[in-house]
Amino acid sequence: MPKDSVTLTDNRTGKTIELDLLSPTCGPMTIDIRSLYKQLGYFTYDPGFMATASCWSNITYLDGEKGILEYRGYPIEQLAESSTYLETCYLLLHGELPDQTQMDEFEYTIKHHTMLHEQLLRFYSGFRRDSHPMAIMVGVVAALSAFYHDDEDVHNPQDRINAAHRLIAKMPTIAAWSYRYAQGLPFVYPDNSLGFSENFLHMMFSTPAEKYSVDPLLAKALDVILILHADHEQNASTSTVRLAGSSQANPFAVLASGIASLWGPAHGGANEAVIKMLTEINESGKPLASFIDRAKDKSDRFRLMGFGHRVYKNFDPRAKIIREICHEMLANGQCQNLEHQKLLDTAMELERVALEDEYFISRNLYPNVDFYSGIIFLGMGIPLNMFTVLFAVGRTVGWVSQWNEMMGDKESKIGRPRQLYTGSASRDYEDIKP
Ligand code: SDX
Repeated sequence: MPKDSVTLTDNRTGKTIELDLLSPTCGPMTIDIRSLYKQLGYFTYDPGFMATASCWSNITYLDGEKGILEYRGYPIEQLAESSTYLETCYLLLHGELPDQTQMDEFEYTIKHHTMLHEQLLRFYSGFRRDSHPMAIMVGVVAALSAFYHDDEDVHNPQDRINAAHRLIAKMPTIAAWSYRYAQGLPFVYPDNSLGFSENFLHMMFSTPAEKYSVDPLLAKALDVILILHADHEQNASTSTVRLAGSSQANPFAVLASGIASLWGPAHGGANEAVIKMLTEINESGKPLASFIDRAKDKSDRFRLMGFGHRVYKNFDPRAKIIREICHEMLANGQCQNLEHQKLLDTAMELERVALEDEYFISRNLYPNVDFYSGIIFLGMGIPLNMFTVLFAVGRTVGWVSQWNEMMGDKESKIGRPRQLYTGSASRDYEDIKP
């Protein structure tokens, strides 16, 4: 039986060492390099962590070649088809699907944490009305750390779960109010008689002046979208949360760092960037091929937003599900807006042309989760600058679950990467004064 190890020979010294191979439940065997520096005096170099495991985790598994995504072993397709976002939250946080009693208790707990401390409302008025809602999310979520000092012992498992419940429950309220503030509309308080996604749409779109009932089909579509965005292994914002949390900072400030990272157009900001790109294409009157050429031109910063992925070298399984929802919504007239139909038509044509183009084929560039999600959000009446906010609402449970897993690991230590120093060699200071 071959030994689970690799042998490494240093050609400069002739020294040979053995490094253990760690066996995952699934996915590539992993070389344990923790003793490398001690044995050979060398660092390893992997900017962007292209092939580096920063941690162990039991939460989410991705296979980029096969287009597989599983939460705690359950395929995303099955959860999207049969679960709810709140049930998926329980699964991600606790590792198992809840029984009915556990689900009822969890739902009761989340519903009774949806309100914000009344003084938090004043934070909104400090922002300009035209502030990007992601700026408000970063600020207000970080401000929660000023309100929950009492049970913030990050080493206490129950305190961590309390913080997780508060964040899952309050994000929709904070998000909806960032929209209401921008529109100059009164804040709508949560209604605990409603489901999670229904309540979010209620807080976004109901008005005190008239009766409002949420379209159950839209609430269901949003719930599936939130499931698809709930977690995704060690992506940039989750890695940010782990690194920020590793210093034992409080969970609210840590989540704010994740929101900040998600905002970038290379990450969660791509859903907003996709709609801007599709609109630019539609309004330009130029042939689609000219945009494909620009995306391939290294001298042009233009990229096909919503295409490509660090891990998926096949279809992002979430994109396939979201594309189906797009078609269903358009088919049952959920977004009559002709503009949306034109955006979807352009998206479908762009996908077809790109997937026939050698440049994209050779680089395994496929549509990712962000390519279609924006079209659904538009169909729901969600404004463009709220798209990444919804991504943050969905991803909150992934962030807090990964943070909780790390803080519960007795071997967890502060994250402190090293570097390949390429700056000036040591030199003496020369005073410019004569
Ligand atoms: C998310 O990590 C996650 O899990 C993230 C996420 C999650 O759920 O958390 O899945 C959510 O962030 C999805 C990705 C959303 N971002 C976008 O859609 C922005 C557009 N995509 C690219 O910026 C890019 O594809 C990335 C950032 C997603 C991935 O970049 P990588 O892995 O660093 O790959 P790369 O930039 O090295 O690209 C490899 C090649 C390059 O060409 P060559 O140097 O080989 O000639 O592919 C090209 C790139 O120029 N390329 C693209 C492209 N994406 C990559 N060319 C045109 N259009 C694109 N979109």
